Amino acid sequence: MPVDGHKSLHELKVFLGAVRRRPSAMGAIVPSGPALAGMLALVAPTTGEPVVVELGPGTGAATRALRSRLPAGARHLAVELDGELVDHLRVAHPALDVIHGDAADLAKLLLDRGIEQVDAVISGLPWALFPESLQRTILGQVGDVLAPGGAFTTFAYVHALPLGNARRFRALLSDSFDEVIVTRVVWANVPPAVGYICRRPLVRANAG
Ligand SMILES: C[S@@+](CC[C@H](N)C(=O)[O-])C[C@H]1O[C@@H](n2cnc3c(N)ncnc32)[C@H](O)[C@@H]1O
Repeated sequence: MPVDGHKSLHELKVFLGAVRRRPSAMGAIVPSGPALAGMLALVAPTTGEPVVVELGPGTGAATRALRSRLPAGARHLAVELDGELVDHLRVAHPALDVIHGDAADLAKLLLDRGIEQVDAVISGLPWALFPESLQRTILGQVGDVLAPGGAFTTFAYVHALPLGNARRFRALLSDSFDEVIVTRVVWANVPPAVGYICRRPLVRANAG
């Protein structure tokens, strides 16, 4: 088996371990594939010294896509709730600044590192499993930290789009951002998914 095959098998085991430990925080049974991860990463600037943060990186599907895109001067952070996934990410991606914490505390976690604004937020969070209050809190935090001209991306599984939770979250995105673009379906992902690309936050957690 090629080296990459070993690596992905190891990542799959780490991911499944997290699903077993905390099914209600995962929302997927396999990591996002490279096609979806690559699409989510497209909002990250390729020049200058951008600051980019991932929410719920899991085993690092989007991390890899971001690393191959970000310029040398970039600052790349990730906020992950699960301690074992944090340990995995720190070994697998030494250049990534992995914060063991809750995306609901995003603004404070970044401020602790001297960061007030970021150019892009890329989310792998399982929104459909969150109560609406938590969805609102996290989107408000994203609104707090996103720089003017910055972008937020996340995704939803196509088979779940007609369900109440997914529809409510889609409506919440429109309440929270001036622009929400729904991408084409990424059929190459398991399961197929659409991306949401959001700009110009309308809602902030710490308005004022
Ligand atoms: C479906 S997995 C996505 C992993 C990866 N982004 C992907 O696309 O394969 C969801 C991830 O979000 C993390 N997570 C869930 N709730 C979180 C929270 N409140 N703050 C930070 N991470 C969270 C989980 O531990 C898990 O790693």
